[in-house]
Amino acid sequence: MKKHNFSAGPSILSNEVFSKASESVLNLNNIGLSLIEISHRSKDFVAIMEEARELSIDLLGLKAEDYTSLFLQGGASTQFLMIAYNFLSNDAGYINTGSWSVKAMKEAKLFGEVHELASSADKNFNYIPKEFNNHNSLDYLHITSNNTIFGTQYHHIPETNSNLFADMSSDIFSRNIDYSKFSLIYAGAQKNIGAAGTTLVVIKKSLLDKICRDVPSMLNYKVHVDKDSMFNTPPVFAVYTCLLSLKWLAKNGGIDEIEKKNILKSKLLYDEIDRNSQFEGFANIDDRSIMNVTFNLVDESKKEVFDKLSQESNISGINGHRSVGGYRASIYNAMPNESVQTLVDVMKKFENII
Ligand SMILES: Cc1ncc(COP(=O)(O)O)c(C=O)c1O
Repeated sequence: MKKHNFSAGPSILSNEVFSKASESVLNLNNIGLSLIEISHRSKDFVAIMEEARELSIDLLGLKAEDYTSLFLQGGASTQFLMIAYNFLSNDAGYINTGSWSVKAMKEAKLFGEVHELASSADKNFNYIPKEFNNHNSLDYLHITSNNTIFGTQYHHIPETNSNLFADMSSDIFSRNIDYSKFSLIYAGAQKNIGAAGTTLVVIKKSLLDKICRDVPSMLNYKVHVDKDSMFNTPPVFAVYTCLLSLKWLAKNGGIDEIEKKNILKSKLLYDEIDRNSQFEGFANIDDRSIMNVTFNLVDESKKEVFDKLSQESNISGINGHRSVGGYRASIYNAMPNESVQTLVDVMKKFENII
């Protein structure tokens, strides 16, 4: 029996995506060849890459004349350095909302002055700082829109005159925000888009004129854009899974519909955390993420009992990140309501027997 997979990433995708991706490994679109044996320059793969790039822009509600997208390698972690390599000539602003922001800042410091404009480190990142020092002459302002580890999420996009960049690894395509406020968005595929191995980068075309130094080809956004995201061999399987899940999203009503479902799913779980005397939420209520729900047991000594009940109900992947402890239920787009309900039922059962 398939488990209820609450893993933070790599994570759940829809069954439809799993089955079509599996078919493609044996025989892509009935061409008599596997997806992973055909040339990335073949018309079949070029069509996959083109459609995935177009659909990602379209689903985010962006205009193709203003934005383009890339499927790169090296994970979101490579974007930490790539954004700075390309665009940090003097000063960049970062809002520090957790480990991933810290890692992004560390890499950027290799290229220019990094200003930490606000931080929630004082409370182990359980909130999103609302005020920040809106520095005037920044090459860009960087935020992490959803903090996978701590379960916090921006519900209001910060106002800035600078180019706004965001690491959206764990919440892209999950909710309807004005994506055109961003000049650059990046997201590792393995949480809400597809299989591990590729990173989606959405970039405003006008930003490409602002590349501020000589950047080696593989790390240069313009080189990748000029080559239609095929400068070198792309991760064909990962890109194909992205296309499949973007098509699944489009077929199911796009971001508008998935946002409604995501809000209901997260409410189901947060309501139980708030109601149940045995649990407490980690993140500040106003900043709670609709993707990664973090919570703790009131009495940690009962952990074994709760873990046993969870396992008996086929729940997998709810242990919190080692830096926070407790539990984290990642409820990405493909997570069905029934899995969240199963977790809620286990929490109720735990309360009754304890
Ligand atoms: C918000 C965020 N940024 C960056 C990363 C790092 O991504 P990658 O492993 O693709 O480099 C993660 C991974 O969990 C993440 O959650």
